[in-house]
This record gives sequence, structure tokens and C-alpha cells, in this order.
Amino acid sequence: MKIGMLTGGGDCPGLNPAMRGFVMKSIDYGFEVWGIREGWKGLVKGIVEDKPMDVARVEELIHQGGTSLRSSRTNPYKDPAQLEAVRANISKFGFDCIVALGGEDTLGVASNLWKDGVPTVGIPKTMDNDLSETDYTFGFDSAVGVNVEAIDRLRDTARSHSRVIVLEVMGRHAGWVALHAGIAGGADFILLPEVPLDIDAMCTQIKKAHARKGYGIVVASEGTELPNLDESEAKLDAFGHVILGDRNVGEFLAKEIEKRTGLETRSAATGHIQRGGAPSAFDRVLASRLGIRAAQCVNEKDFGKMVAIRGTEIVAVDIDKAVGTLRTVPLELYNTLTTLFNK
Ligand code: F6P
Repeated sequence: MKIGMLTGGGDCPGLNPAMRGFVMKSIDYGFEVWGIREGWKGLVKGIVEDKPMDVARVEELIHQGGTSLRSSRTNPYKDPAQLEAVRANISKFGFDCIVALGGEDTLGVASNLWKDGVPTVGIPKTMDNDLSETDYTFGFDSAVGVNVEAIDRLRDTARSHSRVIVLEVMGRHAGWVALHAGIAGGADFILLPEVPLDIDAMCTQIKKAHARKGYGIVVASEGTELPNLDESEAKLDAFGHVILGDRNVGEFLAKEIEKRTGLETRSAATGHIQRGGAPSAFDRVLASRLGIRAAQCVNEKDFGKMVAIRGTEIVAVDIDKAVGTLRTVPLELYNTLTTLFNK
């Protein structure tokens, strides 16, 4: 069995431990695993490592963030010539199967390839934690940890200067990172893409928190819907997503809070800081288990699957189900948790 493995989309902690788990188990089966560089772009251009991945190549990856295979946001289905190149390279390198580590976009390509007759297996990653069919994706726990540390640090300054501080965190369509970081960091208000923005309600809450303890902390997803936002001219990535970096949600909210409450307010954003660094212990274990399960799928020729965690079990689910719809934060969950910050 000759397998091509790639990592696509935004990097996140856990990709290296997942490929390590996959390669370790593949060695037991006697498979040859070839690293494809830079996601789908590597398969379009035929950029493959010069020898199969062995124990030495992956052994030291358990604590390394990012992806040692490198990544790109390339969508070969946007361009028939690129898709043709992908097919040609799969046959040139003699790959019997492609293992893709990625989020909705990368796994969407793997799902389409499977429908087009290419054996694929997907391993879910995204710090956004928004993939369907799995309870968690690796990268999420690590990113939440970074953001909680940021909140703890920001609280010191907020308290010292009697300020309000807004922390903007990643999360395009789903607010899992903001919700978990905000709850674990004891935020006074949390804003998610799933919950309509009510600036008055937020300001009322902030004023109460400030009156009580002398400062306030707001955590907001970068994807929070802002009023009168015109994104018709915004830059898009290869999968058609607006590049959110220029939105400056935190800055917008900080200005509004200061204007409406008269409280001195600052904003901060963890940006790509939250996506880098060593994976948490939870992500290392989850990623390792998913990598091993993916190798088992290949061994069983159980293709068109994405490996997933359900409860405490690692399972294989249909990849097309996993990429159809995003797993967003249920409103009931958010509403239940508001008791922690609506005092
Ligand atoms: O991986 C998902 C994500 O982290 C989103 O939350 C964010 O909007 C996006 O990636 C930003 O990615 P980049 O700036 O690296 O293209």
C-alpha cells in the first residue's frame, strides 16, 4: 500500500502528532507513507518528500505545533487543469490512497475525490472545532488554552487601570473558541457569530460588571456579525471565504463600548498566536488516536471516511456527511451558559 499524506488549510497544533500516529501504525502494517508538501497544492505540482516517512521522520513530532508537511489553501476543484494535475500525480507517484488532514475545505476536496473514484481518508483538524460528525477537532483545546492565558493577562491590566478590554479570537462561522475561552477565562460578555449582536445588552452588562469589580472583559469571535458591514469588496481565499483579518471586530466593539458607557476601553487580538505553539496534552492524545484510526481505515480499505471522536470512542464516519454542514454553537448551550456572565 502506497499512501500520500497531506495537510491543508490553516495550520493548528496536533497536525504533527496526528501524522506521527498515522505513520507509526502504517509502519506496523508495512505501508509506505509519502509526505505531500503544502496541501493540495503539493499534489497539483507534484511536490513529494524524497523518501517515505519513517520513525525518524515522525518520532520527534509529538510536541511540535504547525505542520511539518506545510500547508496551503488550494482548491483543485476550482480549476479543471489543477484537478487533472492532481489525478496525473496520484497515478505518477502510484498512490493507492490519499490521507488528508484538514478542516471542512480540505476534507471537502477529499470527499469530492472519493466521489470521483480516488480512495481517501480524512483526519479532522481545526482550531475552530466546527466540523460535523466529530465531538472535537484537535487544535481547539490548544487554541482555547492560549486565549485563556491571554484573558488572565488582560484581566491584570483591566483591573489595574479600571478598564474594559475586548479580546478578539478566531472563529469564522462558529464561536466555540470564544465560548470556551470566555467561560474558562471568566469573561463578562461573550459574542459569537451564532448570536445576533445586541450592543445595548452588552453595554448594560459591562456597566454592571464594572460597577461591581472595577473592570470588564469581553471575548468576541472574529466572525461576530457587525451592523452595517459591507463585505462586497472584501478579499476572498481559494474557497471563497472572506479574509476576516481586516474586519477588526475587537476594535469596533471597544470603540462602541467606550462611546456608549464612557468607560475606558481597549482591544486586543490573539490572531495567529492562538494557532501556534505546542499542542496541549489533550490535542496530542486526540491527534495520535485519530492518526492510528485512519491507518486502520486504510488497512481495512474503508475509504471515503473521516475518523472522529464520539464521546470517548474513535470512530470512522462518512466523509461527505462531515463536510456538508458546519457544527455551530447551539443557542441553548449559549443561553444556559449566560448565567455565568449576566449578573
Ligand atoms: O483555521 C480556521 C481559521 O483559524 C479561522 O478561524 C480564521 O478565520 C482563519 O483560519 C484565518 O486563517 P489565515 O489568516 O491563516 O488564512
